[in-house]
Amino acid sequence: MLRGVLRALDLGKTYRAPSGDVVALADFEHTFSEGAITAVVGPSGSGKSTLLNLLAGFDVPTTGGVWLDDLAVHQRSEAERASVRLRRFGFVFQSFNLVTVLTARQNVELPLGLAGAGPGERRRRADDLLRRFGLGQRADHLPHRLSGGERQRVALARALANDPDVVFADEPTGSLDSVTGREVVAALHNVAAEGRTVVLVTHDEALSSIADVRLRLSDGRLAATDHVPARRAAGGGREATRDDAEDLAPAAGPR
Ligand SMILES: Nc1ncnc2c1ncn2[C@@H]1O[C@H](COP(=O)(O)OP(=O)(O)OP(=O)(O)O)[C@@H](O)[C@H]1O
Ligand SMILES: [Mg+2]
Repeated sequence: MLRGVLRALDLGKTYRAPSGDVVALADFEHTFSEGAITAVVGPSGSGKSTLLNLLAGFDVPTTGGVWLDDLAVHQRSEAERASVRLRRFGFVFQSFNLVTVLTARQNVELPLGLAGAGPGERRRRADDLLRRFGLGQRADHLPHRLSGGERQRVALARALANDPDVVFADEPTGSLDSVTGREVVAALHNVAAEGRTVVLVTHDEALSSIADVRLRLSDGRLAATDHVPARRAAGGGREATRDDAEDLAPAAGPR
């Protein structure tokens, strides 16, 4: 399945501060692989969040730009960038960011409603996604009635609601123990196997080792790009189909 290709060219961000300018990112260039997990790693202050904010259009660069196919994300208005995020990007955060007063199903339905889906379609799609992540029996649970790993799988289901091209995961296992973290990693592989681009930001070396490509930032610059061939052979390739992904789905199921 063809998806949008995310590309950054000469990307840079300088923050103007009273104490002087801070070059948070400079000369960053990369084309993110479809159907693969790309980890962005680097020490605190190296520019990871800055890069994610620029790629996802939360912020605009000082130099260069971000393209999703031929769409120049950085040149769109704030409202247009919000629409790109709603329809073409999905997000998973360390703290899950679920709406606490909404059930698992309602959380997944939320972006569908914002994108204009009717009630029947919202419910069908939300239930399909929850089932896919092994949460069919948890659809009516409020977030506080779910384990951490379950919450993160609801967040993943929500991230996929509008069938995004790119999923951004910011320290998605940061609040989880290692076993639960592995479930989330399996689910991320599953997401990539559908041909989506997964951008994983983490300072956790063990987590970054599951990626197909690893980008190392140092002082706002891309210091190294490592391709991990074994992972691609293990099923992350762009030729993977939705059916393959569904075959893998039990890997993300309940323990
Ligand atoms: N709004 C801002 N104004 C001024 N400087 C900023 C701003 N945001 C970030 N910076 C600076 O830009 C640099 C990169 O910050 P960034 O948040 O991207 O790092 P990071 O790699 O995400 O770090 P961490 O692992 O701690 O989250 C740092 O030196 C930071 O102090
Ligand atoms: Mg950060």
